[in-house]
Amino acid sequence: MCVSGERIEFRYFIPTRIVFGSGVFNNVGKSIRDIGKKAIVVTGKKHLKTSGRLENLLQQLKENDVDFVLFDEVVPNPDVDTVDEGAEISQKNRCDFVLAMGGGSPMDTAKAIAICAAEKGRIWDYMTGKRIPRRALPIVCIPTTAGTGSEVTRFSVINNNKERLKLPISSDVIYPRLSFVDPMLTLSMSEEVTKNVGFDALSHAIEAYTSRSASPLTDGWATLAMKLIHENLKLCIEEPQNIKARERMSLAALLAGLALNIGRASLPHALEHPLSAYNTSLAHGRGLALLYVAWIRFSFKGNREKFARIAQILGEKRDAERCADAMEKFLQKIGITDRLSHYGFNEKTISDIVDNTYHTMIRGIKNNPLPATKEEIIEMYLHSL
Ligand SMILES: [Fe+2]
Repeated sequence: MCVSGERIEFRYFIPTRIVFGSGVFNNVGKSIRDIGKKAIVVTGKKHLKTSGRLENLLQQLKENDVDFVLFDEVVPNPDVDTVDEGAEISQKNRCDFVLAMGGGSPMDTAKAIAICAAEKGRIWDYMTGKRIPRRALPIVCIPTTAGTGSEVTRFSVINNNKERLKLPISSDVIYPRLSFVDPMLTLSMSEEVTKNVGFDALSHAIEAYTSRSASPLTDGWATLAMKLIHENLKLCIEEPQNIKARERMSLAALLAGLALNIGRASLPHALEHPLSAYNTSLAHGRGLALLYVAWIRFSFKGNREKFARIAQILGEKRDAERCADAMEKFLQKIGITDRLSHYGFNEKTISDIVDNTYHTMIRGIKNNPLPATKEEIIEMYLHSL
């Protein structure tokens, strides 16, 4: 890592207690007791119930005299209505903290509920900047996927399906108070979920590392995350029960999330959010993966040194010009070979969403190593069709 030449300036704050390790889930109850008296438990509709994990969690709450109300309505790409409904339930039941168990969708929903329940607000007002979140209920996260990093970030991303918009909220008040990262919980992820969320983590690491707000503090975490993902994602797909590989992916997702707090996302996330807002069956990580080669081909000139390092981590020569090819090979290796056109996108839909992209995602666009015009963004989308 080179820190010579340019001036160094950054701020970093994270108030999250992280408990990491295989098996830590079995001791969640005792630690949660100190957070509050009554939780709204935010989770998805099916997966945790069939695996028995949810029952286990609720049992631990009972054993530790923590009251709860269950909110199991969260679907992938969660919508504003789900958040507002959850906040209402939380207020009605006088919950004093929010407990999320699941992937990025339950965790991001829980963070949004935590704001709305504490401030008696509606989430759309915070997403559009009409209101600034000043406080939130304490948040506890138990991720069951390895990718989003939401367990350690100040971000929550929510859809507005009516408006076909997907916008991030970013605030220190939604840092989780406590996160239990137990890689054993990720063993039951399907192959598709494994690769999509794994790519999301890779994307967080690469964007945080190459963005205009990257810092030497988080560069080390970001490059370690990339290395771990390159070495272990395929292994997790081939050997889903390989706990060592799963542990390394959980660690990578966490490191990439920590790096994201400071480096923040750039153009790939800015370009992807409108896609999964337009077609909610497109997984966030998959949408990112389908844009990545076109993005690298455009952006590598903005920071040759760092893109050369990424090429090297992905198994190529340390040469920025080789980075896009290295990414293409990696995507093939993990079995992502489809295109945006397979998800219903074409020239017409791209021209429909591009104005939206430019206006709603301008922060991410400006954070790119190379600033992009609207025409250049259209080009990247079209190359990914
Ligand atoms: Fe992401």
